[in-house]
Amino acid sequence: MCGIVGYVGGRSALDIVIAGLKRLEYRGYDSAGVAVLSDGGLASAKKAGKLANLEKALADRPLPSGGTGIGHTRWATHGAPNDANAHPHLDNSGRVSVVHNGIIENFAELRAELTARGHRLSSETDTEVAAHLLAEEFSSCGDLAEAMRNVCRLLEGAFTLVAVHADEPDVVVGARRNSPLVVGVGNDEAFLASDVAAFIEHTREAIELGQDQVVEVRRGAVTVTDFDGRPAEVREYHVDWDASAAEKAGYDYFMLKEIAEQPKAVADTLLGRIDASGALLLDEVRIPAGVLREVEKVVIVACGTAFHAGMIAKYAIEHWTRVPCETELASEFRYRDPILDTRTLVVAISQSGETMDTLMALRHAREQGAKVLAICNTNGSTIPRESDAVLYTHAGPEIAVASTKAFLTQLVACYLVALYLGQVRGTKWGDEIRSVVRELSEIGTQVEQVLGTMEPVRELARGLADKRTVLFLGRHVGYPVALEGALKLKELAYMHAEGFAAGELKHGPIALIEEDLPVVVVVPSPRGRSVLHDKIVSNIQEIRARGARTIVVAEEGDESVVPYADHLIRVPATPTLLQPLVASVPLQVFACELATARGNEVDQPRNLAKSVTVE
Ligand code: M6R
Repeated sequence: MCGIVGYVGGRSALDIVIAGLKRLEYRGYDSAGVAVLSDGGLASAKKAGKLANLEKALADRPLPSGGTGIGHTRWATHGAPNDANAHPHLDNSGRVSVVHNGIIENFAELRAELTARGHRLSSETDTEVAAHLLAEEFSSCGDLAEAMRNVCRLLEGAFTLVAVHADEPDVVVGARRNSPLVVGVGNDEAFLASDVAAFIEHTREAIELGQDQVVEVRRGAVTVTDFDGRPAEVREYHVDWDASAAEKAGYDYFMLKEIAEQPKAVADTLLGRIDASGALLLDEVRIPAGVLREVEKVVIVACGTAFHAGMIAKYAIEHWTRVPCETELASEFRYRDPILDTRTLVVAISQSGETMDTLMALRHAREQGAKVLAICNTNGSTIPRESDAVLYTHAGPEIAVASTKAFLTQLVACYLVALYLGQVRGTKWGDEIRSVVRELSEIGTQVEQVLGTMEPVRELARGLADKRTVLFLGRHVGYPVALEGALKLKELAYMHAEGFAAGELKHGPIALIEEDLPVVVVVPSPRGRSVLHDKIVSNIQEIRARGARTIVVAEEGDESVVPYADHLIRVPATPTLLQPLVASVPLQVFACELATARGNEVDQPRNLAKSVTVE
C-alpha cells in the first residue's frame, strides 16, 4: 500500500530514492514519483504506471541533482492511477512536496476549507491537502518539523507522510500514524522509508518510529518527537539480513526464489527454539506461563494467506491443548462484537506486521482485556509492537506479493505456539512434544524433496493455461490448504479458483463439476486418521464419475488413490497435522507456472499490493 523513500546526505538523492523505490515497488505499482531539492528550489517528476515509466520520463527530462529528496510508489486509494494523482504532491508555491501512505479520512472537509482560503488543488487525492496545509503551517512557524506536527493534529485516519521544503534544503521530515515508517541511519546521511529494504544496501542500522511520532532527519542527526513536540524515546536496531536477501539471485521472479528458500526459512524459524533435549524454548513469548495456563479460549485473527495458516493452527491447538480455538478473518472480527476477556489469548498472524485489518482486530482484543501474541515476519513493525508478545518467523524479506515462505514459516510458528501451550498447560507429555519437534525438524528436508520433483507439476500447469476454472478440495487441515491453493491461483493467474471442504461438495458445489474441469484434491495420510483418507477417496470418485480431471496430491506410498488420479503429485509422508507444510508447496509452484504461462506478472499481480495498510 504505497512505498515511501526519503534521503538526505552527500550523494545523489535521486539515485538513492529511485533505487529504494525499486525495492518497495511490491507495495504498490499504480504510479511513481520523486522530488529533489536543488539550488534553493524543488524539482519533481511523476508518472502513472510502474516505476519504469518514471525512469523513462527522467531519462528524457532529467531532474537537477541534489542531496535531499523523497519518492513514492503508489497503490491507489483516492483517485485514479494517473499522472495527476501520482505523488509527490506540491503546494501552490511549488516549494513543499509530500508523499503519503494511508488514508486521510477528513480530507474532504480539509479540502473545502483550503479551497475557501484560496488554495487551488489539482488532484483527486486526499494527500494533496497535506501539502497545502504544510505550506500554510510552514509560512507561520518557519520550521518543517513543527509544521508537520501541527498538520498531523488536524488529520484523521491512517498516514505516513514524508515531506521536504525548499526553504529547508537539508531536512526531510516524516510522520506516522497507523502506517509504517522506519529511519535508516547511515554515515553522515539518513533515510526514511516504509520498509528497511529501501535502504538496506546503504545501512543496516535502523530506528523504529512509534505511533503518532514526527521525525526530522538531517545529515548526522535524527530527532523524534510526538505530535505535540515532546521528545520521544527511540529504539535503534540492527537489521539482521542484508541486501542480497532482497535480490532475485538469478531467479526470474522473487516468488520462485522465495519458494526455493522455504527449506531454509522453515529451519531458521525453528532455530534456537528447541533445546538439545528437544524441549521448546520460547522465552520470547513473554506472556507468563501462569497466564497461559488460565487461557480458556484462543482466537486467531489474520487475513488472506495468514488466515489460512490460522485455520490450520486451530486444528493443532485444539488437538494438542484441548483449548477451544476460533480462527477469524481480521476484517470481520471487531464488527461482530466478539466475546473476549482476560482469559482469551488472541494470536495475530501477519507477514508484514502492518495489515490494518489485523492491527485493528488486535487493538480491539486488547481493549477487551485479552492478551495478544503476534506471529510476524517483520521486525519492529506495528503489529508486534502493539502486541503483548511476539514470535518472529525468520523467513527473511518476502518481496513477491503472493505469500509463500511466509506462509510455511507462519505454520511452523503456529505449531510451536500450539506445542508450547501444550507444554505449559501439561496437556502434552515432554516425549510427545519432542516427537513432534523431531518431525518438524525434518520438514525442511521434505520440502526440499518436494521442490526437486516439481517439473511434472509445471508441465501440468502449462497444459491448463487456457482453462477458466480450477477447483481445490481438502478435508481437515487439507481444507485450508485447498483454500490457499485457490487463493494463489486467483491472485496470480487471474482464474476462477475455489477451495471447498470436500465434504461440502454434495451440498451444492458438485453442480460445478463438468467434463474435464480440473480439480485439485489434497489427500490426507492413510495412516493416522484413516477415516479422513477413505472419505476423500470417495469424494475423488464422485467427481471423477462426473467428468472432473483429478489432480491428486497424496503422500508417497498411498497407492489407493492411483486408480482415480488423472495426475498424481507425490509429497513425503508426514504426520496428518503437519501435512500442510509439504502439500502447499506444489500448489504454489502450480500457480506460479500457470501465471507465467498466461503471461501474467508473477511478482506484482494486478490490483494488489504486498501489505494492505488500509481497511
Ligand atoms: O502481511 P500479512 O500477512 O498480514 O498479509 C495478509 C494478506 O494480505 C496476505 O497474506 C495476502 O493474502 C497474500 N499476498 C496472498 O498471497
